[in-house]
Amino acid sequence: MEKSVLLIGGAGYIGPVITEDLLKSKAKVTCLDLLLYENKKSIEKFLTDENYRFIHGDLSDLSLIDPILKSITDVVILAGLVGDPITKKYPKESKLINEVKIMGLIDHLNNQGLNKVIFVSTCSNYGLIPGNTLADENYPLNPLSLYAKSKVAVEEYILNSRTQKDYCPIVLRFATAFGLAPRMRFDLTVNEFVLELATSGHIDVYDPDTWRPYCHVKDFARLINLVLSAPNNVVSHQIFNAGDEKNTCTKRDLIKMIQVYIPNIEVNYISSGGDPRNYQVNFSKVRESLGFIAENSIEKGIAEILGEIKNKNFTIYDKTSNFHGNYTIKFNNL
Ligand SMILES: NC(=O)c1ccc[n+]([C@@H]2O[C@H](COP(=O)([O-])OP(=O)(O)OC[C@H]3O[C@@H](n4cnc5c(N)ncnc54)[C@H](O)[C@@H]3O)[C@@H](O)[C@H]2O)c1
Repeated sequence: MEKSVLLIGGAGYIGPVITEDLLKSKAKVTCLDLLLYENKKSIEKFLTDENYRFIHGDLSDLSLIDPILKSITDVVILAGLVGDPITKKYPKESKLINEVKIMGLIDHLNNQGLNKVIFVSTCSNYGLIPGNTLADENYPLNPLSLYAKSKVAVEEYILNSRTQKDYCPIVLRFATAFGLAPRMRFDLTVNEFVLELATSGHIDVYDPDTWRPYCHVKDFARLINLVLSAPNNVVSHQIFNAGDEKNTCTKRDLIKMIQVYIPNIEVNYISSGGDPRNYQVNFSKVRESLGFIAENSIEKGIAEILGEIKNKNFTIYDKTSNFHGNYTIKFNNL
């Protein structure tokens, strides 16, 4: 059956990369996005594609959602206030979007004849893991931020078997993303470190020995396609950690990888920053069930971002610009 996928929040950092992959695989794509960061530029190149449709609006607006759903086979929920800093800055709005509205959407998607609904969650849900333990999907969750707490609440909500759904719900716990995309987010560790060091040669690194798994945006796009094509009995009601152990490192390791390309840098390591998260994750389930292996290394991601910066291919690469990070939101249309 031909796929017609609704990407909710598909105009942010990861959504346009998924869009590219889905369009290549001959799926139809509809994107519903509120453009909280004035990020329409990120999807402009798709607007002439007859298999692409963009709708500007809020995910809780049923007058928008209902007509769209008539032609949709699968839904991917990417939307929300994404990241610890933005949810800390706007706690009320964060709770409203990331929990209340997303849960309402999950209910509303029932009885619409949909095949799969993928909720994109985060490995941040593991929070702080002592030692070198690798968390698999059954490892106890320890969400430390409002962002992760909402993700945990929605995971439970969408997978709860007491509220029967006619679609196949799936949760993907994404590692931290990196790599080039139409809307670069320079508030994410790998991207931020590369930009900072390439442009100023100096960086302050907080909690340098904390571990984190990373994954290239293109690998995430491939994974979404894999999940959408997988038999429902393999993925239904399943949680998958999304990433690959080989792209796990500390911030100190990350600096060393960047130093290969930019040897003369000044790094100020600060041991007690405000972000205690430390987690290493076991990705064997996604590898064994879906054959997912990351094709892009962190080193490759560093090199491609550096290449763009050197060629001045970013028209603006300002780490304070809202288009390039989740910093400030205009809430007049919420
Ligand atoms: N980027 C990462 O490192 C990472 C890591 C783990 C999980 N994730 C998850 O992946 C998903 C996408 O992340 P991203 O980096 O692309 O985020 P992003 O902030 O770049 O994109 C989110 C998009 O959602 C839209 N949006 C927000 N509220 C909305 C609403 N009420 N209605 C419609 N659209 C709305 C925004 O306008 C934005 O375009 C998120 O669910 C995030 O939690 C991301």
